[in-house]
Amino acid sequence: MCGIVGYVGTNKAVPYLIEGLSKLEYRGYDSAGIAVNINKDIQVYKAKGRLKNLEAIIDMDMDSVIGIGHTRWATHGAPSDVNAHPHMNQTRSIAVIHNGIIENYMEIKEWLIHDKQVEFVSETDSEVIAHLIDYYYTGDLLDAVYKAVDRMQGAYAIGVIAKQEPNRLVAVRKDSPLIVGLGEDENFIASDIPALLKYTRNMLLIENDEFVDLTKDKVTIYNSLKQEVTRDVYEVTWDIDSAEKEGFEHFTLKEIFEQPKGVKETLMRRLNADDEIVLEGVNLTSEILKDINKVYIVACGTAYHAGLVGRRAIENFAKIPVECDVASEFRYRDPFVDERTLFIAVSQSGETLDTLQSLREAKRKGARVLSIVNVVGSSVARESDDLLYTWAGPEIGVASTKAYTTQLIAFYMLALHLGRLNGRLDMVRYHETITELKNMPAKLEVVLGQSEKIQKLAASQFNNEKVFFMGRGVDCDLAYEGSLKLKEISYINSFAIAAGELKHGTIALIEDDTFIVALATQNALYDKMLSNIKEVKARGAHVFAIAKAGNDQILKTADEVFFIPDTMDDLAPILAVVPTQLLAYYVSALRGNDVDKPRNLAKSVTVE
Ligand code: G6P
Repeated sequence: MCGIVGYVGTNKAVPYLIEGLSKLEYRGYDSAGIAVNINKDIQVYKAKGRLKNLEAIIDMDMDSVIGIGHTRWATHGAPSDVNAHPHMNQTRSIAVIHNGIIENYMEIKEWLIHDKQVEFVSETDSEVIAHLIDYYYTGDLLDAVYKAVDRMQGAYAIGVIAKQEPNRLVAVRKDSPLIVGLGEDENFIASDIPALLKYTRNMLLIENDEFVDLTKDKVTIYNSLKQEVTRDVYEVTWDIDSAEKEGFEHFTLKEIFEQPKGVKETLMRRLNADDEIVLEGVNLTSEILKDINKVYIVACGTAYHAGLVGRRAIENFAKIPVECDVASEFRYRDPFVDERTLFIAVSQSGETLDTLQSLREAKRKGARVLSIVNVVGSSVARESDDLLYTWAGPEIGVASTKAYTTQLIAFYMLALHLGRLNGRLDMVRYHETITELKNMPAKLEVVLGQSEKIQKLAASQFNNEKVFFMGRGVDCDLAYEGSLKLKEISYINSFAIAAGELKHGTIALIEDDTFIVALATQNALYDKMLSNIKEVKARGAHVFAIAKAGNDQILKTADEVFFIPDTMDDLAPILAVVPTQLLAYYVSALRGNDVDKPRNLAKSVTVE
């Protein structure tokens, strides 16, 4: 999704802008651009495609101490030089970058065209912002931005510079992420922290409907009524190194291999010496829980798939009925949510707009909101009553991997905690599960130690365009995630089914060499899975099975088997997801795809 950066200081701005944009590349984009102010002349450079195309047309040494930059992920209008940001007004005195969508842009555009004779050059919604600010501009950029924003509906993080005010950068946020970085004689704006971490650890997290006025030595935040607001400086404690590749060919592979660490962090930070779960940030008491009769888990993409596993965990351990929904559906179906509902939002970025809006909708209906989030200080985190951070560290690969396994850990801990609070979980099962959770980092290392097996499998199947994932019980939830991962980064048209549904349609598609990933980790459903594997084998499929060590019978049925270490059925997804992630990774790499930045996808989807 679009990324924005801005710089105002005493150094030359362009290298800062390009470096910042390169750190935002992971969000997904298809064009990029910058604007600088040189001797009260705004110069804009834009290029379709990768950042290197932009770098090829600019001079890094340009003499400007202020600038804004943007990576665009096309929504309104195709990826092109002209649709790329920054956008300008007709007299080229104002330049604007925008992440989000201006929902009423058509109405504003028509008014500007017919009543104000403005000529538009791009097909974007964002261009209206530049013309609107120009319309209201009388020498005070902040004032003009207030007036322009007042007419706009939608989601936005906007950065603006004006020719006549060469030392001033103005920004505003509503529903799209925006942070400010504080430096010495220089200040920054960006869509997220990694873009600025090379220059400062001191950040201001900007809230919705806030405006920011930046010069090189002062940052002032205002609310929608133009009253100054104070904000504590948020000091980033994690290291930029954790956002570098460290010898791995791709971030995605590095992040797959970081899962033992993420799982350990997420777990161990919340266990005391007596193996009691201590959920700092979660203020649910047994009194509050008594009044809760339903849990709703809502998320998008991989986080939603983690939610599916979380649903089973909460139902199994805490015996509370759970519904799980994708955020874009939840929002529009008037769900049965009230003050007796515990609403759980799951999000790596904490900025996914559908998830955020679902959370707000649930709050409006009186629900208590708990969120499972990776990015500290993100919007979802800030708007929740209870908060469980996943300690995965920054996830750069667009396809989510380590965020998923840490989300699972957060869910298991929450489920155990709820079960203890409401008295429906006995201590024997509690301790058994905690002990096994503590074994997970080591067992994950065992799984990762067999990555070569998956590499070989990928080498034999990477051109196979007919791929299915199937499983039963929690393996079905996992099949959805495995299939999504393959789809996202290999572009293979794979899909997932509940193995029991095979006979109700999908079996008609099986032919010679259809590649099937069969998840068979659940003891209670093992025999049923063996039958499903036989059914597809009989029709010519090539079956790759994932099973638990010791369940050797499957060797006679499947073509290839990957054994994960033996574990409790409930916890098997933590281990079994890894071979599916590795498969997607190696297939994608063998097909020569841009693994970390797959086409058309964005890391953080901040539009609907
Ligand atoms: C995008 C990403 C996915 C991610 C989903 C939800 O589609 O490409 O990897 O699972 O958004 O993102 P979130 O940040 O809310 O977990």
